[in-house]
Amino acid sequence: MKIGVIGAGHIGSNAARLFVKAGNEVAIANSRGPQTLEPLVEELGDNAEAVTVEEARDFGDIVFISIPLGRISELPTNGWENKIVIDTNNYYPDRDGNIAKLDSGSTTSSEMLLQHIPGARLVKGFNTIWFEHLRSQGNADLPLDQRRAIFIAGDDSDAKAAVARLIEDIGYAAVDTGFLHDGGLSQQPGTAIYNKELTAAEAAKVMTAGA
Ligand SMILES: NC(=O)c1ccc[n+]([C@@H]2O[C@H](COP(=O)([O-])OP(=O)(O)OC[C@H]3O[C@@H](n4cnc5c(N)ncnc54)[C@H](OP(=O)(O)O)[C@@H]3O)[C@@H](O)[C@H]2O)c1
Repeated sequence: MKIGVIGAGHIGSNAARLFVKAGNEVAIANSRGPQTLEPLVEELGDNAEAVTVEEARDFGDIVFISIPLGRISELPTNGWENKIVIDTNNYYPDRDGNIAKLDSGSTTSSEMLLQHIPGARLVKGFNTIWFEHLRSQGNADLPLDQRRAIFIAGDDSDAKAAVARLIEDIGYAAVDTGFLHDGGLSQQPGTAIYNKELTAAEAAKVMTAGA
């Protein structure tokens, strides 16, 4: 599969490593330009290239966006129709400043991104796992229920299924928390599943207890 990765920091670079290792092609972008990503793509090998944001968007069967919430507005607003997009972003008021509509729960950070990239088939995912765990805790040899859970939320079931397959390919188990709004709220910082080292079987119990 072809995966565009936008954001090459703690999460984006480690996700790109896992995607390439699982046999995918990756085109990765940051804000400072492809030339600044040469060391990373050299490490990633022949199946990775450094590109612009627009090129990463156009390249991906799936586009993995992993940039700070405060920089969403810098992304292009066009060209996202029918693109499956994974959004890893989180809202931390101390870091991002208070945003009233997020504080009230009337919308979520992923819905804010979707408003900016209309037409995308957006799946919130990978936001509950610390980058060091993402780098190290995948294990494709384990049965799915014993693998570390990566939570996903979204309104497009086919997009979620494609993202779930990708998550399984890199050694994790996808656990669906529901639609983008309510599922997204349940994946936010401070929730029972956020940054918890849960297998898929444990995650199911935690989610049932919280329901
Ligand atoms: N760190 C974690 O463990 C973790 C875990 C789960 C979720 N998250 C969430 O995932 C997102 C990324 O976190 P991170 O820790 O990976 O951040 P990070 O290490 O600070 O990296 C951010 C990346 O985003 C890029 N970027 C910023 N603005 C951009 C733009 N307009 N276009 C393209 N690329 C842009 C930066 O590129 P430049 O350096 O060129 O500006 C950088 O590569 C955040 O929303 C965070 O809350 C983080």
